[in-house]
Amino acid sequence: MARPRFGLIGTGFIGRAHAIALNAVGAVFADQEAPVCELLADTTVDSAARGARALGFARSTGDWRALVTDRAVDVVDVCTPNHLHREMALAAIAAGKHVYCEKPLANTAREAAEIAAAADAAGVRHMMGFNYICNPLLQLAREMIAAGELGEVYAFRGSYLEDYMSDPAVPWTWRCDRALAGSGALADLGSHLINLGHFLLGGIARVQGSLQTVHAQRRDPASGQLRAVENEDIARALVEFERGLPGTFEISRVGTGYKCGLAFSVFGTRGALEFQQERMNELRHYDAAGPAARSGFRTILAGPEHPDYRPFCPAPGHGLGYNDLKVIEVRNVLRAIANGTPGWPDFHEGVRVQRVMEAIEQSHASRSWTEVPS
Ligand SMILES: NC(=O)c1ccc[n+]([C@@H]2O[C@H](COP(=O)([O-])OP(=O)(O)OC[C@H]3O[C@@H](n4cnc5c(N)ncnc54)[C@H](O)[C@@H]3O)[C@@H](O)[C@H]2O)c1
Repeated sequence: MARPRFGLIGTGFIGRAHAIALNAVGAVFADQEAPVCELLADTTVDSAARGARALGFARSTGDWRALVTDRAVDVVDVCTPNHLHREMALAAIAAGKHVYCEKPLANTAREAAEIAAAADAAGVRHMMGFNYICNPLLQLAREMIAAGELGEVYAFRGSYLEDYMSDPAVPWTWRCDRALAGSGALADLGSHLINLGHFLLGGIARVQGSLQTVHAQRRDPASGQLRAVENEDIARALVEFERGLPGTFEISRVGTGYKCGLAFSVFGTRGALEFQQERMNELRHYDAAGPAARSGFRTILAGPEHPDYRPFCPAPGHGLGYNDLKVIEVRNVLRAIANGTPGWPDFHEGVRVQRVMEAIEQSHASRSWTEVPS
């Protein structure tokens, strides 16, 4: 197949990360031909032109609709605020394009399912931006769990804490608006943690959730007025995986002191694993079989023996970074397109994640255990 030509929409935090990855993937993975950075869209002609120059795109437009129907674009890459994902993804699918979309797929599970069904019906490839699971050490953790190295796994503890909204003086943004963002910490951070749980341990059957909004109002920089925060700062949940395994989730955008505190522990009869994204090149493993006098966690440093590390660097312990996870993810997107097979995480995973998020919200409202629709 000819090199896929990408049309990227959005040049904010994650649009830039996608552009960096699109430019790097061919250099990192020798067996992967570089995609073409064809067209970039942003809100204005000027911001799009600036973005295209900085991020290595051939052309730019201030009209995302022109991008999704452009004949020289094969893949539409959606990196805009959450409420725009549905409209942009559906328009791209209608134009016969493959779609790579940031999390969350949409603002409701119903909308997410609509997008996934449309993509399937059109026969286009669809992939989600859940980059954290691309970490070589998380791929290793998954292998270790599946191979039974921890014995019988009996508990999962996951958290994703960031403090970007801890300070009450942080201004109101689209992330505080129910119509623009959907849920709050759940959509922004929890979606990654739920996907991570799925990646390591499979589907989630039921949840008991609780939500908390710590700062009920923030100042809107546009009007200078205080404006209501319409979604949660913190989400907590007891969860039960389909395999019967219990777990806990704690998700917060007001987790004072934490910058990218995605973390988990997996407990088994023969061992345990512990991981923290802020130390993303370290996986801690506890082997219960060792002598009592030597008992304790040991640190596995990321290295070329782990999946997808070697193409970046032949030496262990030198470390990968956040943007490298996007490079691996983009390679996965390109593979799905080249092979004509569904990749993972695809839009169906986007739907599953959304259903867990909604079940946590419903459980909070009903104060009871809530089934996640399958
Ligand atoms: N996977 C991750 O680790 C990760 C990290 C951050 C954000 N995200 C996701 O990425 C998405 C964007 O978040 P962000 O932090 O980059 O937001 P942002 O506010 O930094 O950037 C949004 C971009 O979209 C552009 N945009 C807005 N409306 C547009 C329109 N109508 N047409 C064209 N462009 C438009 C803005 O100009 C801006 O360039 C969100 O869905 C978020 O959940 C994912």
